Amino acid sequence: MKHLLAVSSLTIAAGIASATLVGAQRSEVERSPIYGVTVPVGYRNWEFVAPSHEAGTLVELRLIVGNKGAMKAYRANALPFPNGTVLVKLAWKHVPLTMPSDLSAPPQAYVPGDATTVQVMVKDAKRYASTGGWGFGRFTNGKAADVAQHNTCFACHEANAKDHDYVFTRYAP
Ligand code: HEC
Repeated sequence: MKHLLAVSSLTIAAGIASATLVGAQRSEVERSPIYGVTVPVGYRNWEFVAPSHEAGTLVELRLIVGNKGAMKAYRANALPFPNGTVLVKLAWKHVPLTMPSDLSAPPQAYVPGDATTVQVMVKDAKRYASTGGWGFGRFTNGKAADVAQHNTCFACHEANAKDHDYVFTRYAP
C-alpha cells in the first residue's frame, strides 16, 4: 500500500511538472505586437501559392505558402478568404549559384541564401475587423518585429490589394 501511494504521488508530481512545462512553452510562443499572430506550426510543409522576387533594396527570393483553407479558396477562386485562412511568406537572400565548371561566366541562376523574414497573415473577420479581417506578423529568427513595422502592414496591403481581399499573391499556374 505504502509502495502504491509512493508511485501514485510520483505520477501526480510528474503530471504537474509536465503541465507546468506545457504552460511555460505556451507563454513563450512569440506573438506579433498589435495582432498577436504567431508563426504557424508546420508551415514549411504547406503547399505553395507562388514564388516572388524582390529586386529592389532587399534583393530577396520569396515563396508564399498557404494552409488548407487558403489553397481551397485559391483553387475555387473564391474571395474573400474564409476565417482560418493562413498565408505565410518565406524570404531568403538572393545569391548567385556559382558553377565550378565555369567560374568566368556570369551567374545564370540565383538561389536562396540566408533566411531573412517569415511573414504571416491570419484571417479572422471578427477579431481583426478593423484591418480587413487580417492579422499580421513579421518574424526574424523567430522574433517578432516591433510595433512601428506592424503599423505599416495593413496600410500597404489596403492601398494596393484591397480588390483581392488585401492579398497581393495570385495562384501561380
Ligand atoms: C510597402 C508595401 C507592403 C508593406 C508595408 C507590407 N507588405 Fe506584405 N506584401 C507586399 C507585397 C507587394 C506582397 C506580394 C509578395 C511579395 O512582396 O513578395 C506582400 C505579400 C505579403 C504576404 C503574402 C500574402 C500576400 O498578400 O501576397 C504576407 C503574409 C505579408 N505580405 C505580410 C506582411 C506583414 C506581416 C507586413 C507588416 C509587418 C507587411 N506584409 C507589410 C507589400 C507590403
